[in-house]
Amino acid sequence: MASIEKIQINNFKSHKKFITDLSNDPQQIVVYGENGVGKTNLIEALSFFSNSKGLRGDNIEKVITNHDQAINTNIKINILSNHQKYNLSLSIKEKESKLQKILYLDDKKASLIKIKEIISFIWLTPYMDKIMYEGQSIKRKFLDKMIAQNNKIFNNQIIDYQKNVSERIQVLRSSKDEKWLNIIETKISENMLEIFKTRRSYSVILNDIIKKNLEDFRLIEIIYNNVNFNFTEDKNTLLQLFKEKLKTNRDIDEISKRTSFSINTDEVIIFDSKKKLNSEFCSTGEQKACLLTIILANCWKLKNENKDFILLLDEATSHIDEGNFSKLINEIEKFKTQIWYTGTSKKLFQVIENKAFFIHLQ
Ligand SMILES: Nc1ncnc2c1ncn2[C@@H]1O[C@H](COP(=O)(O)OP(=O)(O)OP(=O)(O)O)[C@@H](O)[C@H]1O
Ligand SMILES: [Mg+2]
Repeated sequence: MASIEKIQINNFKSHKKFITDLSNDPQQIVVYGENGVGKTNLIEALSFFSNSKGLRGDNIEKVITNHDQAINTNIKINILSNHQKYNLSLSIKEKESKLQKILYLDDKKASLIKIKEIISFIWLTPYMDKIMYEGQSIKRKFLDKMIAQNNKIFNNQIIDYQKNVSERIQVLRSSKDEKWLNIIETKISENMLEIFKTRRSYSVILNDIIKKNLEDFRLIEIIYNNVNFNFTEDKNTLLQLFKEKLKTNRDIDEISKRTSFSINTDEVIIFDSKKKLNSEFCSTGEQKACLLTIILANCWKLKNENKDFILLLDEATSHIDEGNFSKLINEIEKFKTQIWYTGTSKKLFQVIENKAFFIHLQ
């Protein structure tokens, strides 16, 4: 259970000054107002405490408000997490004509990792809708990010893999030293096996959660598939196969400067078990429900691990009919944590009219 008790924002995008007191501890907060009033900007400000580029992936230059000549961007929030109060703040300052972003936890400088040990912000934005209808790579990247957020080892495996892959290309384009290439390709094969394994284990956990907790919302299954191998083969057979593939592809990889047999050969299928269809063939609203299911399953995973989080749902009502929105609210309330919704009108949130705290931006 986590909540924000107070927010103070200065000079963040369209918000020159924004203060709100939430000490009456509302669990559901609705930020509403017309297009362009700063709803997404408000929840984006919060997302910077979980991701260095926030929920839009914006660079620091795009964040500072362009109303002001002197750069003095601050986001301060008082939170309650695991029955303890914390002050989090982020400030952007200009130093030697360079912008600097500094995070504080209870007035002491802190890393994002440290803050994430206390609280995570999880979000859904309209930009993410494409995950369900665009090709393979966006689904894989979305899930990889989700895994990396919760699993430092996976993050390191990816970094290690990328380092080895670029070293192999360099050797292929220079000395082509056979012994060296064999060593790097062995390392890459090990990295790949670990990455393929972690992805599959994470999907098994999410699929179990979905079956157990989210069947009434939307029953889906996350499936990893790779045409190059059968993952049920034993470890050594797989390692041997990966090494052979890398070796066979040396010439082609040297010319293309790419690794043809890579971790990107994994395909992700989001299978809608109710419709018995790949989510790419589902309607827009059904796809949104599939995406929400994955996010909610990840929230359950965090909750089961006793990790506190706050949900930020930007335009969650778009493409979702009233019945499904009620079902969504019903699921979300089970987390017993704070949820932020945005929408263009108060009417969209009639189902939670009596319990939500409404913030009207104009
Ligand atoms: N760095 C900036 N400085 C000042 N204003 C900015 C900056 N970046 C974006 N804006 C403005 O902030 C305004 C609000 O954007 P935001 O995306 O939060 O609107 P919104 O209320 O979510 O609208 P919609 O209903 O269309 O989603 C926009 O008009 C945008 O041009
Ligand atoms: Mg918006």
